[in-house]
Parts: sequence; C-alpha cells; structure tokens
Amino acid sequence: MPISIACVSGKGGVGKTTTCAALAGAFGELGRRVLAIDVDPQANLTSGLGFNPYQLKRTIADILVDPTVSPEAVTLATEWDGVSLIPANPDLSAVEAEMATTVRRELRLRDALNRGAGLRAYDVVLFDTPPNFGFHTISALGAAAWILVPLQMSGYAMKGLKEVLRTFQAAREQLNPDLHILGLLPTFVNLRTRFSQQMLEGIREIPSLHVFDTVIRVTVKLQETAMAGAPITAYARNSEAAQAYRKLALEILERTAPAASPGQA
Ligand SMILES: Nc1ncnc2c1ncn2[C@@H]1O[C@H](COP(=O)(O)OP(=O)(O)O)[C@@H](O)[C@H]1O
Ligand SMILES: [Mg+2]
Repeated sequence: MPISIACVSGKGGVGKTTTCAALAGAFGELGRRVLAIDVDPQANLTSGLGFNPYQLKRTIADILVDPTVSPEAVTLATEWDGVSLIPANPDLSAVEAEMATTVRRELRLRDALNRGAGLRAYDVVLFDTPPNFGFHTISALGAAAWILVPLQMSGYAMKGLKEVLRTFQAAREQLNPDLHILGLLPTFVNLRTRFSQQMLEGIREIPSLHVFDTVIRVTVKLQETAMAGAPITAYARNSEAAQAYRKLALEILERTAPAASPGQA
C-alpha cells in the first residue's frame, strides 16, 4: 500500500499545489515511485508538472465518469524520475453535476483508483485539492490515508484550520475511518517578522496536532516554479526551498513508517 496524502486547506494561495509538486520531486529523488493526482479543476498541479491542461485527451475526469477506464489509462509519465501524474483540466468542474445522483459519489475517486492494478505500482500518492471543501476535496479525503495541511502564516490561518479540522472529522466519520492527520506545514514563513514567529509558536502549542519541523519560507524561487512548470527540487536544486521540501519528505517517511503509530488524529 502506498503512502497516500491529500494536501488540503480549504482556501487558495497557501501552497498546496507547490507542496504537492515539490514533494513529488523530493520523493522521486529518493527513489520512491510517486503518483501525483490533480483533483483541482484549476489544474495547477498538471501545469506545475509540465503539462498544458488544454492539450490533454484524458484526465482524472475520465476515471470518475467512466467505470471502464482504469487509472493507468490516464496516467502520464513526467520529466522527473519516478514521478507520474494523473492530470486534470477544467472539464473536471462539470463532473460533479454529472454524478449528482450517484450513491456515495464521494467514494467514486477511491473506487476508480482501485480499478485494474490500482495504486500498487506506487510508494507515494499525492492528491492536490481545490481551494474549497466541495466535492473534489471530499473525494480526495475519501481516497487518501493522510491529510497534510499547508498553513500560510497569515491572520486568517487559524480560522481556516478550524474548518479543515471540521471537514476532516466529518470525512473520517462518514466516509473514510482510516483518514489521519499527517501534519501542519507552515508556509510563507517570514522569520524576520514577529508575526510569523509568534504564529509559528502558537501553532506548535496546539495540543494533539502534529506540526512539521520543516517550515517553508517566503521565496521568489517558489513563485517561479509555477511559471516554470517544474518542482522546486528540479527548478532550483540547491535552493533553501528545495532543501526544505527534501527535509519534509524525510519527515513524512518517518511519520508514516509502518512501525510508527498513526499518531493522534
Ligand atoms: N513559500 C512560498 N513563497 C513564495 N511564493 C510561494 C510560496 N509557496 C507558493 N508560492 C506561490 O504562491 C502562489 C500560490 O501557491 P499554490 O501552491 O498555487 O497555492 P494553492 O495551491 O494553495 O492555491 C503560487 O504562485 C506559488 O508559486
Ligand atoms: Mg492549488
């Protein structure tokens, strides 16, 4: 069974997509076989890993609506060793309406990913989700074992976190009892401001919520990766941000090691 992680925050611009792409690159470098899954109709992960969403014939939408299509049929090899992608394009936004009457429709993604060879070929599966708690985010929570929450060090982060936790609890109770919180990842950290530092200290004090040691600082290099269509680990190999994501990948391996307990949810 691969380690499957959904990157979730309920809002946009906090670093979900950047984190998925960077972790895909970092795990690939470690020799892990990675499947990145774009579950966001905005298709930023698809372009972030080098594809033009408008030129794709088959996407994640196909496995959701057509039960004869297996995940392999829509999986693309990326330029980076060990990193594959199930891409999205804006068609994905129509899928929810098409499935309006399907029973347990939020589990369609999980079931689709189990078709054929399923996810057995991978060590790590990363789901990128839209900036809301709608159908596609819930579908990812139905399919993943872990959630990783990028938390932008800004005034609204705490409010956003409460909503993530509420959604997590609901998904766990109603959809996927095997879902656990992997951890909170501080993003857009600016260690020169008191605000960022105080917030970091604040979240580290929340009982029973794991916060990664790794923090992702504000850097123009990460901004550039979105334009470059490449993970930071390839785009700016020796940058501090690339190193940070490599360290995060190692923290994740440690936290998900089979001997370890899943920790507190
Ligand atoms: N640590 C960072 N420092 C500076 N810019 C960042 C950082 N992380 C992400 N970005 C940029 O901020 C924007 C939003 O990031 P993104 O990963 O797309 O967020 P989300 O997927 O949560 O909407 C993108 O343009 C991205 O390149
Ligand atoms: Mg995104």
